[in-house]
Amino acid sequence: MSSEIAHEMPQASEESPAVKIDGVAKSFSGAVALEPVWLKIRRGEFLTLLGPSGCGKTTLLNLISGFLEADRGELFIGDELVTQVPPHRREIGIVFQNYALFPHMNVAQNVAYGLRTRRVPRAETAERVREALALVKLQDFADRRPKQLSGGQQQRVALARALVIRPRVLLLDEPFSALDRNLRTAMQVELKEIQSRLGLTTVFVTHDQSEALSLSDRIAVMSRGQIRQIGTPSEIYDHPQSHFVSQFVGDANMFRATRQPAAGTAVAVDVGGTSYGFTPYQNDLPAAGPVTLFVRPEQCRLTAAGEGGAVPATVALSVYQGSYAELHLECAAAEEGRVMLRVPASEALAAGTSVGIHLPENGAAIFAPEGDAA
Ligand SMILES: Nc1ncnc2c1ncn2[C@@H]1O[C@H](COP(=O)(O)OP(=O)(O)OP(=O)(O)O)[C@@H](O)[C@H]1O
Ligand SMILES: [Mg+2]
Repeated sequence: MSSEIAHEMPQASEESPAVKIDGVAKSFSGAVALEPVWLKIRRGEFLTLLGPSGCGKTTLLNLISGFLEADRGELFIGDELVTQVPPHRREIGIVFQNYALFPHMNVAQNVAYGLRTRRVPRAETAERVREALALVKLQDFADRRPKQLSGGQQQRVALARALVIRPRVLLLDEPFSALDRNLRTAMQVELKEIQSRLGLTTVFVTHDQSEALSLSDRIAVMSRGQIRQIGTPSEIYDHPQSHFVSQFVGDANMFRATRQPAAGTAVAVDVGGTSYGFTPYQNDLPAAGPVTLFVRPEQCRLTAAGEGGAVPATVALSVYQGSYAELHLECAAAEEGRVMLRVPASEALAAGTSVGIHLPENGAAIFAPEGDAA
């Protein structure tokens, strides 16, 4: 019996994506907000759109929800072509940054709204509203008005209102950015729990990289209307493929370097007079000539000044952070002249101390110097 059921279950690879975005693009009066995007969002996936202000995150979300009409391309939800389907027929749940609750309705009425417009019978509506409020732990607040709730509670009402319709996809546009740090962290954990429990396909917009890294199955990093890179949080953090992505996600040390012509897969560069060879992780290497060398702070090691193979630097500032200290170094070979390393607090060094920076054998990359165009 169970084997028959298993037989009927489609394999993950055969299963159609929850959302398929096929060359969808959008301009506003001739100004491009979103270049053509191709993207498949998997069923049950938590996908985050991450990027700086104005890069097109909300535009892409609004194209999925149907609030915006695409200039070109096609959009599928499940197997259904929805490019021409109005927002309320797409069966999508949406949560905005500013809650957008109806002020004159109480919590239960706010949550029931999507069921009323769908003409769900009264008894079923009451039951589903109860369920949704329990899911966000607000069962005791059904009779309150939005203005009698804290920001975090209001955002949970907005989430319950989105979930109650049992959406095929949940879209959230910077939902926690108005909340203070502790509340934001608590809400992130709650959202992630609810999302994985329901197996809900979710598209989450943020410009906060730590929020993206902690919540997502995959992150799509955007800039200037394009997806620059898409991958798991660790693929994005450990193996950024461009200057832009390496700087936007996590702390990055960037050095001005010259790539030497070399055979094989190893890379040889000159970093301000220091020769450095390593095996890069990246797919596409820039040609010999001026490049930017990228290394994460945790991959750099501090050595004594003058040690062979180390890049010379001077301690400018040591910032105590409790369990560790951030050493800000002046370094002639670094872009902007600065490098940052973390050391155990007990090993912090005084400003003015000369040191060397030892670069790693793996984990570094080189990018074209005008990297943010890549
Ligand atoms: N209705 C509109 N009319 C004209 N231009 C718009 C409109 N909506 C967005 N834009 C422009 O499109 C570009 C992308 O905007 P979008 O709102 O998608 O950015 P975003 O990544 O969500 O930014 P933020 O993080 O600030 O919310 C911006 O240059 C913006 O000014
Ligand atoms: Mg936005």
